[in-house]
Amino acid sequence: MEIITEISSLRSRLKHEPPIAFVPTMGGLHEGHLSLIRIAQQKADCVVASIFVNRLQFAPAEDFDQYPRALADDCELLKNQGVDVLFAPDEKSLYPVRQEFMLEPPPVANMLEGEFRPGFFRGVATVVLKLFNIVQPHVAIFGKKDYQQLHIMRELIRQFNLPLEIIGGETVRASDNLALSSRNRYLSNDERAEAVRLYRVLSQIKREIEHGNRNFHALQQSAKDDLDAHGWKTDYIVVRQRDTLIPAREDDGDMVVLGAARLGQTRLIDNLEVSV
Ligand code: PAJ
Repeated sequence: MEIITEISSLRSRLKHEPPIAFVPTMGGLHEGHLSLIRIAQQKADCVVASIFVNRLQFAPAEDFDQYPRALADDCELLKNQGVDVLFAPDEKSLYPVRQEFMLEPPPVANMLEGEFRPGFFRGVATVVLKLFNIVQPHVAIFGKKDYQQLHIMRELIRQFNLPLEIIGGETVRASDNLALSSRNRYLSNDERAEAVRLYRVLSQIKREIEHGNRNFHALQQSAKDDLDAHGWKTDYIVVRQRDTLIPAREDDGDMVVLGAARLGQTRLIDNLEVSV
């Protein structure tokens, strides 16, 4: 695996490459990221991954400084997985001047994650557009774990006519069903045992909907009550239309249950698709 940190070196390395499949990440890699690499390998002969902890998508009070940085371990994982090129720029390479041009995402970016992390998707969309311009992939893979992010990435390429395909990868979970996340490393042992409750309340809602319950409000409320009773601070638990992410209606068929909640200092998100 080649590790490239400079944009100009990456450009000349990729100049004559056949179609490229790209997996952008912020590092702190786990099996969820690696599952996206495996999808990429099925889609193109050349797989490029990136690792860049993007300051633009962190609010001042968020965990930019603490965010797990484990470049040596990450390189090992990517090499073993057979990644062709890792692009790991430093901040000066990707942001040589203050990034003043910012992508203003559509209104869907102001709900859910965007409501609790203002500016988050502006930062994500801006860095991803830069990375797409640098790597020029034919396919890019994003995880369904960040469901709203995947949705916004699809809108990004659609509304800017970017010549690439976006593919969504299924969420990879630990054996107790906790969604893998770089931020799980922040959890204490007790919190790690408790963390699976987020998945459990979402699957309870999914089951109820599959059994015909359409009282979304009551379902959302009892999930929040359950989390709150066990020391969580819930940001949202909602049932949304899968295609638009607006609140689901009684006669919708394709839905997604999304949740975000804080356990101690750690903010966790998860979601489950529901079809009826
Ligand atoms: P990061 O959180 O590192 O995630 C990189 C990719 O891995 C995202 O597409 C995310 O959805 C996916 N992913 C994370 N956990 C997963 C899991 N358990 N199963 C499957 N896929 C999972 O998302 C970002 O970085 C950044 O916002 C980024 C897009 C790189 C822009 O900075």
